[in-house]
Amino acid sequence: NRTGFIFDLDGVIVDTAKYHYLAWRKLANELGFEFTQEQNELFKGVSRKRCLEILLEIGNIKASQEQFNRWLVEKNEDYLSLIEEMDESEILPDVLKVLQLLKKHNTPIALGSASKNARPILEKVNLLDYFDVIVDGTHVAKAKPDPEVFLIAAKQLGVPPKDCVVFEDAVAGIKAANNAGMLSIGIGNDKVLSEAKYVFANFTEIDHKFLNKLIALTP
Ligand code: BG6
Ligand code: MG
Repeated sequence: NRTGFIFDLDGVIVDTAKYHYLAWRKLANELGFEFTQEQNELFKGVSRKRCLEILLEIGNIKASQEQFNRWLVEKNEDYLSLIEEMDESEILPDVLKVLQLLKKHNTPIALGSASKNARPILEKVNLLDYFDVIVDGTHVAKAKPDPEVFLIAAKQLGVPPKDCVVFEDAVAGIKAANNAGMLSIGIGNDKVLSEAKYVFANFTEIDHKFLNKLIALTP
């Protein structure tokens, strides 16, 4: 049996959380309230629509469906202009090294992201070719912590969920991986990601030996 590797995008491959934050903060400020970095933690791994719902709850603002949709578009336009200039330099440390090692072993690799902008971002940072399968916010009905995004990815890779490894930076994403019956690996703070099977601060901390065990699915 081969191990399938599934990567989240935002916060795992690239640090786009800061751009999402700036775009949401701009909208919050326009609506007359503050939006902090701490509050932004709640937005990680969460769909665009759900993020706006939370933002409006924070600001205690009610909106019609049309207004809600206009804000969704506005936030995304601001986000897109912030990521316009993104390039390879924004790939997080050692991500490329890990992808190259996996490729060398002919390992099936998928992206499993909540973002509807996943494909253009992978293009910008020139990583599209590493992924055999891309499942993103345009393909799923149910958001993380629902396992849907990862289950679709496993299916498309042709790997049983129990033989898949997921790299995630968000609590909702770790829950989704666990709910899918996959081996969850947190990238970030081990206190925040305590539900993950393993946690590393970043890919620099994952050594060759551990990766080889994952490839053989005997960690
Ligand atoms: C997730 C991010 O990957 O994608 C969330 O962690 C974001 O913060 C979500 O809200 C949706 O992204 P997008 O690009 O479709 O607005
Ligand atoms: Mg993420």
